[in-house]
Formats: sequence, C-alpha cells, structure tokens
Amino acid sequence: MSSQVKSYDLYTMQQKMLEEVIAGLSKPKKTLHAKYFYDQTGSELFEQITQQPEYYPTRTELTILMTHQTAIADRIGPVHTLIEYGSGSSRKIKSLLNSLHQLEEYVPIDISKDYLLLAATELAKDYPNLKIKAVCGDYSTPITLPVDPLLKKVIFFPGSTIGNFDPDEAGRFLQNSAQLLKDGDGFLVGVDTKKEPELLNLAYNDGAGVTKAFNLNILKHINTVLAGTFDPSCFEHVAFYNEEEGRIEMHIKSQIDQTVQVSGHAFTFKEGETIHTENSYKYSIEEFQLLANTNGFRSVTYWTDPNGHFSVHYLEKTST
Ligand code: AVJ
Repeated sequence: MSSQVKSYDLYTMQQKMLEEVIAGLSKPKKTLHAKYFYDQTGSELFEQITQQPEYYPTRTELTILMTHQTAIADRIGPVHTLIEYGSGSSRKIKSLLNSLHQLEEYVPIDISKDYLLLAATELAKDYPNLKIKAVCGDYSTPITLPVDPLLKKVIFFPGSTIGNFDPDEAGRFLQNSAQLLKDGDGFLVGVDTKKEPELLNLAYNDGAGVTKAFNLNILKHINTVLAGTFDPSCFEHVAFYNEEEGRIEMHIKSQIDQTVQVSGHAFTFKEGETIHTENSYKYSIEEFQLLANTNGFRSVTYWTDPNGHFSVHYLEKTST
C-alpha cells in the first residue's frame, strides 16, 4: 500500500457482529442488521445491483451529482476534509473530488475493510496530492475520526443508505454526525424519494436475481465469520414496499422447519418464518428537510432529477 493511504481499525468488528447477530436472531421476530450484507462478496453483489436496469437509485444519484457538480461545489465553498460514510462508488466520489474547492483530505469510512482499502488505494493513484485516511469502522454508532476539528469538513453520505435507519434512528444519526462538525460544516446526503410502489418493488426484485443473491449472502457472511451453519438454499428472498411505513422491507424466509447454529448457539425456524434484514425508507423532499431541521442541521438546498426519483440534500450544521 502506498504511504499516501493510512488505515485505522476502530474496534473488534467480529465481537460486535457476534453480539448483534445473536441478539437479532433471539428476538421473537428475527432480525439482522443490514450492515452485515457487506462482506467482500456482499459489496460486490451490491455493486452489481447498482447496474441492474430496475435499480434506478445509483445511476439517478450519479446523474444528479454530475449535472450539478459546479453548483454543489460552489454551494459548499472551500473545504479541507471530505468524509465519506460507506466508501461506495468511486464514480460518485470522483465527481466531488474533481470539483470541490481547496480539498486536501479524504476520509472514507467503511465496515468492509478489504473493499475499503482496495478502493482507497485505487483512488490514491488518480489523486496523488490527496491525503487519504481510510477508516475501517461502523459509522452508524458515534465515532472519533482522525481529523482536525478546526478545519472545514463536509460529510458525504450517498446512496440513500440513510434510509436503512428508521426515522428516529436517522434523527439520532444526524445528531451524532453533527458532533463531528463545527458550525458551517456540511452534510451532503443522497435520499431516495417516495414514488409509485411498482417502481420501488421492481428495484428490489430485479429479474436477474442479484438482489436475491445479495439478501441471502448475509447468511453466508455469518457462516464464514461466526461459524454458522445456514444453508442459503433453504431460504427465499422477499422484498416489498410497505406504503404505511414508507419503506421497502427485505426479509429472508425459511422454506422448511430447521435449526441453525451460529458460534454454538442454536436457532430454530418454522417453515415460512422470516428474518427481517433491511428497511429502506423513502422520504419526500419536505419530510427529509424536516428531519434535518429538527436534528442539528439546517436544510440549505437540494438537487433532484427531472422525474424526482432521487434527491441530494445539502445541510449545514447549525449552532444549538
Ligand atoms: C445501499 C441501503 C441504499 O436500500 O436501496 C439495494 C441497499 N438493498 N437493494 C437500498 C439495497 C437491496 C440500498 N442501500
């Protein structure tokens, strides 16, 4: 690895994963955290999802970022440090790295270490003057970052991953993020919008079955890291838009009565029983602005595509 890229391990990810997986599978309605989709295979499968014709969010967000590149950079103004939650698509980050004024430092944070370091190393080649601090960690809980509190920072949180939190958690998450910032620092966040349920349902049930493979891969991830005995072929992929809640729900449904071990702990499944693996909340422009404005930020402006299928909001930290 080049000396331009430094890496930081925040804590023992495996211990935390074991505790959270055991807790989730012990509930009367079993759950798993969506963040555990993202082992190496899961990150690759997600990358494939973003290329499916039915999955509109990624390409729509990228088009918004590219179309409004200059307006976004000008609105943000000079910025020293760009922090990215979930080092995802290099094409999105490049649109910012190419346009932001006076940028010195890039701090990607991701739970998937190998993927993070690969992406950071690749990016370093294209931006030889950029200081890159790759942080392996879980940004969904409060963290301390290797950054200077006095210099201007912008957090970039693309992909509508904020939709994985329920609205209360998203509010707390915004407040935690504000703790890393000073007044005038920014938060640039991609948010999927409410739209016709047909479009939403298709986006999470692609014809090629990539979302199904992505959903079931969480079981293989548990098998590998936590000595699990899941047989993914005994489970089915379920995804649908829950209109009352304003969210896509993904579940894994057991096809049979079965018992599965995770690190020596036994979990029984009835035929038809589900594990809730993901929520993906959708927000109207006004709903998201309200969420931001009541959780430590001021909604400054937003950009959207002509169909209003996706939105990118710029927020500034406000003094409380
Ligand atoms: C990465 C959380 C934004 O919710 O659309 C894609 C993950 N899950 N297909 C989303 C996902 C199934 C994605 N996020």
